[in-house]
Amino acid sequence: MANRWINDRTDRDVTPERIFLNRRQIMGGALAGAGLAGLAGPAVAAPEGLEPNSFEDITSYNNYYEFGTGKDDPARYADALTTRPWAVRIDGLVDKPGEYAFEDIMKAMTIEERIYKFRCVEAWSMVVPWNGFELADLLDLAGVQNGARYVAFETVLRPEEMPGVAYPVLDWPYVEGLRLDEAMHPLTIMATGIYGRDIPNQNGAPLRLVVPWKYGFKSIKSVVRITLTDKEPPTSWNRANPREYGFYSNVNPQVDHPRWSQSTERQIGGGLFSRRIPTLMLNGYQDEVADLYTGMDLRKNI
Ligand code: MTE
Repeated sequence: MANRWINDRTDRDVTPERIFLNRRQIMGGALAGAGLAGLAGPAVAAPEGLEPNSFEDITSYNNYYEFGTGKDDPARYADALTTRPWAVRIDGLVDKPGEYAFEDIMKAMTIEERIYKFRCVEAWSMVVPWNGFELADLLDLAGVQNGARYVAFETVLRPEEMPGVAYPVLDWPYVEGLRLDEAMHPLTIMATGIYGRDIPNQNGAPLRLVVPWKYGFKSIKSVVRITLTDKEPPTSWNRANPREYGFYSNVNPQVDHPRWSQSTERQIGGGLFSRRIPTLMLNGYQDEVADLYTGMDLRKNI
């Protein structure tokens, strides 16, 4: 992990206060449980009441359709993905377009640990201690130009390493998008690790987006291209099924998925006794992000 070296922090870079309430070390509990006690580092911040899932849960129950549609397919097949060398092409409305080598990105970024709740559209959830950096810092590095309004993301596409792309479940490569203000929000990160280890391939190595207030499919894995644009970019799930998946995909317990309720979620990790808990508006990050949607009807803009 790179050390913190950027000292030109702005207000935007400060993690909202609520995230730092209940600051605690994850030494005794989950970290030791995952056999990683030696890695215990800085204090990890989490919203109140969130107990991280085990490393085992987080890395064995996955969605990464390029490796198959089963929850255990990514853990089984994603090892085949070559993640070094890696580069992210940043282009479109930026001052410094080009290929950014993963190592150079890591040197330039401030790596922190953030515990976020993750809510999949399939009505399950997990709590993950990510290591990563703010997407805003990477976008600043490339220099976002004035006309940019949206950010488009693309996953690597390597049929020889990805058995799942032989099936037309989605239109490959997997693509996603955010509005620029969502992308610049300090809660939006590019994750490069879990529990202080490099992020495993099944979770989106070597770097993946994490947007904690949106349904999980927005958090695109193994990103190779980031494009700043003035138009709303296409997204894989919207293309596949526009009736079920919109551009925003904000967690909203009041709007049901056409085929199931979104009002509760099952917490992964409880085994047979896994609990169903009420789903919170914007996944519990309402205080931090509701301002982004002032004046928008979140029932219509799904
Ligand atoms: N990114 C790519 N490239 N391919 C995918 O199939 N699945 C999405 C998202 N990112 C997906 C992806 C979905 S549906 C979810 S719920 C999350 O990744 C799952 O992330 P996790 O496996 O790390 O929990």
